[in-house]
Amino acid sequence: MTPASDELPEGEEKSRKVRRLFDTISGRYNLVNRVMTVGMDIGWRRRAVRELRLPGEALVVDLACGTGDLCRELVRRGYRTVGIDFSHGMLTNARASNPLVEADILRLPLADGSADGATCGFALRNVVSLPQLFAELARVVRPEGRIALLETSEPDLAVLRAGHAVYFRRVVPLIGGLLSDREAYSYLPRSVVYLPPAADMLSMLGEAGFRQVERSQLSGGIVQLLTGTRAGTRAGTRAGTRAGTRG
Ligand SMILES: C[S@@+](CC[C@H](N)C(=O)[O-])C[C@H]1O[C@@H](n2cnc3c(N)ncnc32)[C@H](O)[C@@H]1O
Repeated sequence: MTPASDELPEGEEKSRKVRRLFDTISGRYNLVNRVMTVGMDIGWRRRAVRELRLPGEALVVDLACGTGDLCRELVRRGYRTVGIDFSHGMLTNARASNPLVEADILRLPLADGSADGATCGFALRNVVSLPQLFAELARVVRPEGRIALLETSEPDLAVLRAGHAVYFRRVVPLIGGLLSDREAYSYLPRSVVYLPPAADMLSMLGEAGFRQVERSQLSGGIVQLLTGTRAGTRAGTRAGTRAGTRG
């Protein structure tokens, strides 16, 4: 175990820490995001929403919606959207016109097959159990529904990886400290050790019930986008029935 992972909590303690942390940084979350990514985060979210390729007015759940950036992009593309997050602070600071629900994404307050699609931005490393999250996704997304999940990543190219490591471990805590909360922005880069290798995440998605699972690397590999289609037939699901009446 590395010294960094020594300090990283698991289980309920992790969940409490993540929630507290996002409550603390919620007020300046958007500002810090824009500065740290030099605005590239806008393009990453656009790409994720584009990859859904669902019919207009499809219902898309945005898991761990935070301050609502992905929700706004979903609404802009004509989707009906519900955002879910467990940080009261993030939801209070959200700028979103769609409904927002305060809940744990590991226990979604949604019926089986009730969503046509789901997105999740930069929260995979925050959850206590990825298999549980993917099982919840598979439960609420109807067959043939689509998912698009964004998360940070390490570039494949050694030189880019080295530069990214310095930026992530040194510059992010510095900027975060200046504009917001240094402790939080020191924890966030360290928390990437929670993320399993990409191949494992793709296998987990397959085991949960998704097919056509794919991974794209964005901006030289500093971000990854996981996409997939819910396997199964649409007959009998609530979203399937509704979509059927839309014509
Ligand atoms: C890095 S922020 C991302 C916010 C937003 N998706 C975005 O793209 O800007 C991670 C978010 O995940 C939320 N989160 C983490 N674990 C969660 C859980 N188990 N249930 C609900 N929300 C969770 C946090 O509260 C936080 O708002």
